[in-house]
Amino acid sequence: MKTIIVKNYDEMSKVGADIFAQIILDKPNGVIGLATGSTPIGLYKKLIEKCTNGEISFKGIHTVNLDEYMGLPSSHEQSYAFFMRDNLFNHIDIDINNTNIENGVAPDAQAECERYNKVLDELRPDIQLLGIGSNGHIAFNEPGTPFDSVTHVVELTESTIKDNSRLFDSIDEVPTHAFTMGIKNIMNAKKILILASGANKAKAVYRLLKEKITEDLPASILNTHADCTLICDEAAASLINNI
Ligand code: F6R
Repeated sequence: MKTIIVKNYDEMSKVGADIFAQIILDKPNGVIGLATGSTPIGLYKKLIEKCTNGEISFKGIHTVNLDEYMGLPSSHEQSYAFFMRDNLFNHIDIDINNTNIENGVAPDAQAECERYNKVLDELRPDIQLLGIGSNGHIAFNEPGTPFDSVTHVVELTESTIKDNSRLFDSIDEVPTHAFTMGIKNIMNAKKILILASGANKAKAVYRLLKEKITEDLPASILNTHADCTLICDEAAASLINNI
């Protein structure tokens, strides 16, 4: 894994956005894999700026998203579909029909997982963006998820529900289940970019770079990917000074 340590969140977002922009320039009809959460918001802002300036265009780009809460329709403000429109899609020249995410209110969850796996087979990302959970999760693949997993429904752990509750009015409103791409789907991307910012990610970053590869630390599998880059800011890198 290539590791880039930058000063702060803003620099992480800038370096990440430059990597994304280059891929979009190289392949204007390519596929980009996207994530939600606090981490990528700055990167999305920079991509919006680049699109507004005319540096890049999303007209031919397809997107796939990692995950979606189960039970929330795309109109719900806390759904990841809403997040993507709010933080990126509504501000760039993408065709919204070319954006893909699991349907949180699909009547048949198993059929929805199968549908999404087919989408992912057809749209192999040229680059997949990831954040990392404080427990080392990637997408909603919590510790213990098999490395050969594909899209599935997960019961969220207490620590993830607690981490995500900051965006809801109360912790009781956080959905308990979610659809998520599996680890095998993520590893299928041609390139992976994982971002980490802030002291609350320092332990996860340390474990990612120093511990052995184990299903107890889902992100650890990224060490075996042929083209994975980690960008972390100084706070997130604070425990790995000697690397
Ligand atoms: C988001 C996702 C999650 C987050 C992770 C970090 O689509 O799949 O794995 O990347 O929970 O979240 P933040 O960025 O909010 O710290």
